[in-house]
Formats: sequence, C-alpha cells, structure tokens
Amino acid sequence: MSIKHIAILGGTGFVGRSLCNRLSEEGYKLKILTRNREDNRSDLIILPNLELVQTDIHDLKKLEMHLAGCDVVINLIGILNERGNNGKGFRHVHVELVEKLIKACGKVGIKRLLQMSALNADAKNGESHYLQTKGEAEDLLHSKNIGINVTSFRPSIIFGGNDSFFNKFATLLKMTPLFFPLACHATKFSPVYLLDVIEMMTRTLNDPESYNKKFQLCGPRIYTLRELVDYTSQTLGLKRKIISLNNMLSRVQATIFDFVPGKPFSTDNYLSARTDSLCECDDFARYQIKTTTIESIVPQYLNNISYRSSYTKFRTRIRR
Ligand SMILES: NC(=O)c1ccc[n+]([C@@H]2O[C@H](COP(=O)([O-])OP(=O)(O)OC[C@H]3O[C@@H](n4cnc5c(N)ncnc54)[C@H](OP(=O)(O)O)[C@@H]3O)[C@@H](O)[C@H]2O)c1
Repeated sequence: MSIKHIAILGGTGFVGRSLCNRLSEEGYKLKILTRNREDNRSDLIILPNLELVQTDIHDLKKLEMHLAGCDVVINLIGILNERGNNGKGFRHVHVELVEKLIKACGKVGIKRLLQMSALNADAKNGESHYLQTKGEAEDLLHSKNIGINVTSFRPSIIFGGNDSFFNKFATLLKMTPLFFPLACHATKFSPVYLLDVIEMMTRTLNDPESYNKKFQLCGPRIYTLRELVDYTSQTLGLKRKIISLNNMLSRVQATIFDFVPGKPFSTDNYLSARTDSLCECDDFARYQIKTTTIESIVPQYLNNISYRSSYTKFRTRIRR
C-alpha cells in the first residue's frame, strides 16, 4: 500500500505537533483536524504540505467528508479529565469517537489506522474511566472484521519540551514553598522520550508486520513518582521537602483537586496513578530504536533552553 495522504486527529497536541513535524519532513501530505484552527495554527501551518482544518470531528458526516482522499488516519485524541465524574466525557472522546472513526474509514475506504492508547488501558479491569475507555477504544479497533489494519501504541509517561508531566510538576514545585505533598508517590513509571515515540510511529506506518499489534512504549529506566518529582526539583535547583501521602490522603487530595479549576489532579487521575505504568517487553527493540534517558533531555527544557529550534529550519525554508 502506498501512503501519501495522512489525516491526524489530535495533531495540534504535544505528541501531534512533533509527529506532524516528522511526517512532514518525510514528505507526507498531512490533514490536521482541529476544533479551533486559530488557536492552534502557530508552528503548524509553516510545515510544508500541511492542511489545518477546523471541524467537529464528533460529527460523522463531517468526519467522513474530511477523511475522504486520505490513506491513513492517526488518532491521537485523548483527555485526562472530564467535566463531571461519571465517565461520560471519557466515553464520548475515547470510545464514541473511535466508533465514528471506524464507520468513516469504512465509508471512505481507509484501510490503515494508528491509535494512541496508554499503558494499563483495559476495558474491563482499567482502574479509572481514562484507562477503561482507552481500553474499550483499543478493543473496538482490534476486533475482527472492521477491515482496517490497526497499530496501537501504549506509552508510559511521554516526556519532551512541552510535556504535561515534568512541566506541570515544575510549575507546582515553584508555586509551593518548602513542603510538597505528593499523592501516589510509590507508583513506578518508565518515562519515554517524545521523539522515540515519534520514531516508532513513523517506522510502523508502512510496516505490515505492525498490523494488529499493540506496542508498549517505555524509556530505558524505571523511577517511582517520588524520584521523578525529586529529580524535577533538583533540576530546577529548588529545595523542597517532598511529603509522601499515604493512600487515604492521596484520595483526599484528589477529591479536593476535583473542585479546582483545570483539575491539576483528579479522582480519575488518582485511580490511574495507583498502578505502575511499566512495560512487559521492549517493543522499541523490534525497530532497533535506542531509547533516551530523562537525564539527557529534561534539564534542557526545564532550564528553558529552546526546544522549539526544530521549527527553525522550516521557517528558514519558507522565509517566515
Ligand atoms: N502525554 C503523555 O504523557 C501520554 C501518555 C500516555 C498516553 N498518551 C496519549 O497520547 C495522546 C496524545 O497525547 P498528548 O499529550 O499529545 O495530548 P494533548 O496535548 O492534550 O493533545 C490532545 C489533542 O486532542 C484534541 N482534543 C482534546 N479534547 C478533545 C475533544 N473533546 N474533542 C476533540 N478533540 C479533542 C486536541 O485537539 P484540538 O484542540 O486541536 O481539537 C488536542 O490537540 C492522547 O491520546 C493521550 O491519551 C499521552
């Protein structure tokens, strides 16, 4: 199958922007569907062969119309929090959207789809609405007879310039004088570098061996959440005493934060964060990708060294 034209849902986000950058470099024609073109145009519209289209992707007819003519869909849409607490918001964005995507792909003849999922996604046993609905979406996409060759990616925390992990903890640590209360401190993570994830997605795109596979994506090392927050604090040169909260206090903290605008931490996040986010195998090795440590990347952006320099060459090329 010859892939030329790729539609990306969630192409304006943290992973999406980097993926667009890479796929544009590879010469693919990209169509990014967004809810708000004006807010998301910076850096993206300078990429060659990229069309940024404002639409309602939850409207099946519009989805079909915009996917027509594309060879592949990459679905990066994901939310970490919903407006209420009953799972309906997660279901709408993770499951119902995928149901529509399957229908739309069938209608317009798209036979290849990459899905961004998450480690521990599990429709039945997922600890949180986030993990359950991510699991349901995977199950739908990997069920037989949908007529689409699907590859799913299950990363641990993804780190890189604009990530919402190290940057969020950096902001919170700076705001908190002396003591920093930390929920779910003992949970283990294996942070994976954004560009390693992008490399994996790019290499699998045209690889029939990746059809119907679910790849686990982890970095080279394992850390507890406390070690990661400690590392963030040290990298910023802050002297904060991290107070590890027990399970009951972690839950109380999440319940309080449920009412804070923007939900920096929520009950659903707490439920996800109770389980270690670790890989059982090294799927990067299948593609000879050597993974990157946090120590070699995170200090660069936490200390404000420009990570946006990757756009410079495109700006230079089109003189903007
Ligand atoms: N970042 C991580 O550490 C991590 C770890 C594991 C898994 N993942 C998964 O990886 C994917 C990408 O993550 P990310 O960090 O790049 O996320 P992100 O920066 O939050 O971007 C997600 C994109 O989804 C779109 N979106 C959000 N809510 C939507 C809604 N209600 N309806 C339609 N579109 C909506 C947004 O696009 P517009 O605003 O343009 O419409 C946004 O660009 C997600 O599926 C996430 O669950 C991420």
